[in-house]
Amino acid sequence: MADGELPDNPARPVAVDVAGWPPSLADFAEPARSAVPPEVWDFINGGSGTETTLTANRTALDRVAVLPRVLTGVDRPRTEASLLDRPQAMPVAVAPMAYQRLVHPDGEPALAAAAGAAGVPYVASTLSSTPIEEVAAAGDQVWFQLYWLRDRGMVADLLDRAQAAGCSALMVTVDVPVLGRRLRDVRNGFALPPHVTTANLPGGRDDLAHQGTPGVSAVPSGAVFAPALGWADLEWLRGRTPLPLLVKGVLDPRDAVRAAEIGVDAVVVSNHGGRQLDGAPATATVLPEVVAAVGNGCEVLLDSGVRGGVDVLRALALGAAGVLVGRPMLWALAAGGRAGAEAALALLAAELRDALALTGCADPAEARHLRTMTGS
Ligand SMILES: Cc1cc2nc3c(=O)[nH]c(=O)nc-3n(C[C@H](O)[C@H](O)[C@H](O)COP(=O)(O)O)c2cc1C
Repeated sequence: MADGELPDNPARPVAVDVAGWPPSLADFAEPARSAVPPEVWDFINGGSGTETTLTANRTALDRVAVLPRVLTGVDRPRTEASLLDRPQAMPVAVAPMAYQRLVHPDGEPALAAAAGAAGVPYVASTLSSTPIEEVAAAGDQVWFQLYWLRDRGMVADLLDRAQAAGCSALMVTVDVPVLGRRLRDVRNGFALPPHVTTANLPGGRDDLAHQGTPGVSAVPSGAVFAPALGWADLEWLRGRTPLPLLVKGVLDPRDAVRAAEIGVDAVVVSNHGGRQLDGAPATATVLPEVVAAVGNGCEVLLDSGVRGGVDVLRALALGAAGVLVGRPMLWALAAGGRAGAEAALALLAAELRDALALTGCADPAEARHLRTMTGS
């Protein structure tokens, strides 16, 4: 779809009454904090190492000032946009996040259903605590996130299952050759409780993740991940699936260009929410260079630190086609299950609509032409 063109048949979100819920997406943090045990709060919210990158993600977004346009005659902006050539209610998807039953008993199906009702994609993690078939049945547009496993047969099996379940895109995560050192989990000796399992993997593959040891994080065990993923693997994957393919965890523009040359449909500029390399740059800092390098080669999405509609606007103005939202959606799930997640997404849409109105934009495509300034 050409830049600036609106989808013919935008996804229509279900109307949600946000009365009684926190006043902003970011404000779901507090009720979530009281809803989950402290070690689960740390698992969700922590980053790796000294959490420099975790903090930098927010600082960098906060430093992006967007120049509003005035006298544009826009009355009520539309939030609809296209991602992967498909109409969406807004340029947002729910990021893949492992083990959602940790924060609420309804887990992944509840969040997938909320995303479906809001008219945005839900990305189901390989490390889901609900099988992909159940998640796909609960949602509308469910994308499958693939972690590359040591056993290629298991990778092929997961791909087949995701496709048979009706997943409409595949997102391969490439920034976890090893797990980042998440010191909060190490200090807490964090392990999965018995009721939370790695439901997509054959029985027994996640046993280690349940074995709590003081001073050691058990999650995830890492025993099943293949560390040495290469470009040939991405080419294999491109040839193996007819689904739109996204590569998540790209920061260097050279990698983004190479992925586009292989024929991926989108790259996600992500540092895994500051959970992998501590010392990696904030995503808002590298996004413009990636967008410039990739050109029309593929779509560019951003995640890591998005906490509200103004952040979506900032990402669009920096050239992204859209964003993934991570932790805030777990906060909303923890705070109120499916209803909480629906309210959070309705608030995000309202925040984005206001941000568009305040910058004189009729829709997200126009926001991509806004100018930005980086200041303190
Ligand atoms: C609790 C948690 C679990 C995550 N699990 C996965 C995962 O299974 N696969 C993946 O690709 N990314 C995973 N991520 C990273 C997110 O997809 C996303 O990149 C990150 O959360 C975005 O940053 P934000 O939380 O600041 O929005 C996880 C993040 C969190 C917080």
